Amino acid sequence: MYSDKTYQVYNQDCISGMLEHVATESVDLVFTDPPYGIRGDELDVHYHRDESNVVPGYVDVPLESYAEFSRDWITEAARCLRPGGSMYIVSGYTNLHHILNALHTTDLLEINHIIAQYSFGVSTKKKWVSSHYHVLFWAKPDRSQSKRTFNTNWKYTDQKDSYHDRLTVQPMPRDYKPGQIKNKNQLSEEFIDKFIMYSSNRGDLVMDPFCGGFTTARQSLRRGRGFVGFELNQHAYDAFVPTLEGIEDLPDPMPIVPSDAELAKREKLREGWRRDRVLRKQQGK
Ligand SMILES: C[S@@+](CC[C@H](N)C(=O)[O-])C[C@H]1O[C@@H](n2cnc3c(N)ncnc32)[C@H](O)[C@@H]1O
Repeated sequence: MYSDKTYQVYNQDCISGMLEHVATESVDLVFTDPPYGIRGDELDVHYHRDESNVVPGYVDVPLESYAEFSRDWITEAARCLRPGGSMYIVSGYTNLHHILNALHTTDLLEINHIIAQYSFGVSTKKKWVSSHYHVLFWAKPDRSQSKRTFNTNWKYTDQKDSYHDRLTVQPMPRDYKPGQIKNKNQLSEEFIDKFIMYSSNRGDLVMDPFCGGFTTARQSLRRGRGFVGFELNQHAYDAFVPTLEGIEDLPDPMPIVPSDAELAKREKLREGWRRDRVLRKQQGK
């Protein structure tokens, strides 16, 4: 176990780990990317990928036990989530049904189903090129003082920009860092940042049960959140835990405000729409 005042990370199976180390209803946000149950530990051989910079020892879950595995870790993660807390799960399409079935056995509510679109895919013949992940956004029901956090305007003050930033099809940037050691299926920190910023506040506790390259951990710490996480692969744990040390604490960004001219243009348009709505109502349409 490595523990600092802002983070606790364990080289342990997350199901037993959450039970042992994470108090009930103590976590504000879960962001995680579990193994996909598609023999991810062998994919490099299958696709002839050069994985010389990838840490060995990635742990996948056999398909036969994927349903039970999903139920077990999602039940535990849901226990850890505070009322109003949010959970984002990244999934491929192959075993998505197991994750959704498991979520439906909890008391969590579905908020959004997001598609993360990347600009590349594994080449195929006579079928579409798969180029997306699913990001399932679920939350524990609110309880009196404990409401769900959603910082609608953290990035943009104006509804038009914020609307486009929050569409349920999101780009999935690829981190291109030649020569740098990484985890298999490592996500980009820029991608994770958005979910952290919309669904948590400074000082909140973020959890990732499947840390991999510890991307969720690094981005949470950068944004002034606390972090708790698990990674079963000893190689990944040893390689990436040191990257959490001395992370720069980024100040909260100033939301982007449109220029006066742009605001005036948008206001004129909105005024027109308002007039049209009133007119339609008067005409009984
Ligand atoms: C898809 S990867 C996570 C990638 C991560 N989001 C990143 O950006 O690097 C899933 C990770 O879960 C780990 N894992 C598999 N089973 C686990 C378990 N029961 N408990 C904790 N970690 C596990 C794997 O070794 C792998 O590193």
